[in-house]
Amino acid sequence: MASGTNRDVLGRGLAVLGRAIREQPRIFAVAVTGSVLFGLMVIASAYVVGAVVGDVVVPAIERGSVATGTLVLAATALFGISVLRVVGIFGRRLGAGYMQYRLQAAYRRRVTRRYLELPLAWHHRNATGTLLSNANSDVEAAWYPIAPLPFAVGTLVMLVGAVASLFVTDWALALVGLAVFPALFALNVVYSRRMAPRQARAQRLRAEVSGIAHESFDGALVVKTTGREAQETARFAGRAGELRDALISVGRLRGVFDPMLETLPSLGTLAVLVVGTFRLRQGAIGVADLVSVAFLFTVLAFPVRAIGWVLAELPRSVAGWDRVRRVLDATGEMPYGDRELDPATPTPATLAFRDVCFAYEPAEAHLPGTEVLGEVSFTVPAGRTVALVGPTGAGKSTIASLAVRLVDPRSGTVTLDGVDVRDLTAASLARTAALVAQVPFVFDDTVRANITLDRPGISDDDVWAALRLAEADGFVAALPDGLDTMVGERGTSLSGGQRQRLTLARALAGRPRLLVLDDATSAVDPRVEAAILAGLRAADRPGTPPASILVVAYRRATIALADEVIYIEQGRVVARGTHAELLATVPGYADLVTAYEQAEVERAQEQPYDAEADPLHSGLEMEVDR
Ligand SMILES: Nc1ncnc2c1ncn2[C@@H]1O[C@H](COP(=O)(O)OP(=O)(O)OP(=O)(O)O)[C@@H](O)[C@H]1O
Ligand SMILES: [Mg+2]
Repeated sequence: MASGTNRDVLGRGLAVLGRAIREQPRIFAVAVTGSVLFGLMVIASAYVVGAVVGDVVVPAIERGSVATGTLVLAATALFGISVLRVVGIFGRRLGAGYMQYRLQAAYRRRVTRRYLELPLAWHHRNATGTLLSNANSDVEAAWYPIAPLPFAVGTLVMLVGAVASLFVTDWALALVGLAVFPALFALNVVYSRRMAPRQARAQRLRAEVSGIAHESFDGALVVKTTGREAQETARFAGRAGELRDALISVGRLRGVFDPMLETLPSLGTLAVLVVGTFRLRQGAIGVADLVSVAFLFTVLAFPVRAIGWVLAELPRSVAGWDRVRRVLDATGEMPYGDRELDPATPTPATLAFRDVCFAYEPAEAHLPGTEVLGEVSFTVPAGRTVALVGPTGAGKSTIASLAVRLVDPRSGTVTLDGVDVRDLTAASLARTAALVAQVPFVFDDTVRANITLDRPGISDDDVWAALRLAEADGFVAALPDGLDTMVGERGTSLSGGQRQRLTLARALAGRPRLLVLDDATSAVDPRVEAAILAGLRAADRPGTPPASILVVAYRRATIALADEVIYIEQGRVVARGTHAELLATVPGYADLVTAYEQAEVERAQEQPYDAEADPLHSGLEMEVDR
């Protein structure tokens, strides 16, 4: 690392420390006061020890007796200094700890809150592993130097005090101090500069190692089924080996510098003894002075290390801070409006897309985003069900995201009951529209908590009603603890179809007036899927107001239940009408629906045959597919 960057790191590191002090000024003042008290007591202890030697020990040796008053005075002074030192250490440690952990907690909160404020587009560009380390290790790294900071500040004050007291004692001894203290300081600076890149490398590798681990655990199924255990292990072992080497190189440097940092003050003491004996013989100083100064050099060595600790942590702190700030300064959050949209009696909402164009932000800012939706217009009238059909990649999920305002259109408008969704408050939007995403997400919590999500006013009866509508009451009732059953991380203890129905029940429990189902029942067998949709459409749902439904679907039985079908290809609305009309008039639509049905039949034939579950043989299928 060039020294220019190093100096830069020092400046920026001090700026980060400055920010910490501005955020926690009172705690910092307490810690520094404690530390300064400690430093002054270190100096005082050296002089008291010197005085004790000069006034107690030497007379005792020379005359064989000591005045009791002197003895008591010396004992009291030593005791008093010890007490003040303890108080100083206590204040410093407590203050530094409070400051460090408070800052960590505050910034963890700020970072995670920011994650939730930032738009989906931002999350698309940032890996989960990075987000985890931003909130965890980067926040910690940013505030690492806070722990030794008060100690270091107190030590600086102590060094100034020590040099001053040396000058008061004897100029020759002061010169020794002036040579040794800066040398000690310089050695610390060199040490931390050498250490910085090694620490940074170790920190980066740590993040990479945990990233790889995270990915392989997450993809455990893929790793196992594709027999990639060996490669994954090798990939992990390679990076873990690099981390080991990086940490060893940190240790080696420590091995070289730590003894030097220990030795330098000892050399100082030696120089003091040589120069001091000479000055003693000249009569310039007394025995007490010599002992004081020699003692001072031995006790100063340790606190000076604190300055090195702070300097050594600065680069890591700056790197961590940069990453934390990248999150805090990230822009593009979606400001919410202040309009509410909650009629006294809940009625289904009307969703309308008007000339909506949309492009995902490119991975690199300078590239143009490719248009995903072009002038999409359609309406889901109040209480109606509209099916969104189109080949994979056509933009169905994108439309679903726009409908509940996970993203905003590049141009055009999305309205709910005639109000632009951008004008609604977050709460009103959440109450009005619910999305059941293509990939269900289940929290590591109970079934009940997964459905209520701590939203107020959802009773167990409501939960069961929602589960019934989602055709999930049966399997939940069969779980060992019913609603209190823990479902495991990401719902690992549930089948794919069960997970989907749980997330559907979650959406229903909020009694939305618009329900957006993005292929939300694809893992549920076709008969149940159609039954769910039929149930949702029925007006007489106890406890749940009827909702308008926008449903992304493939299955004939499901699509046929919709009042209208919007057929899209490559981000454009190609045709709209009833299922029957589109089947008759739009070749692409007929091909898609038939091909999907064919695939389902083949899949059903590969599996043990279950006539009940076969879409072609189910009574419901026959009934709706006319
Ligand atoms: N986060 C993203 N960043 C960039 N492009 C994206 C992103 N998500 C989707 N796309 C692109 O946008 C287009 C539409 O994607 P979308 O997910 O809306 O399709 P879909 O119709 O839901 O497909 P599927 O039936 O497979 O779910 C695709 O070309 C896809 O590659
Ligand atoms: Mg999709």
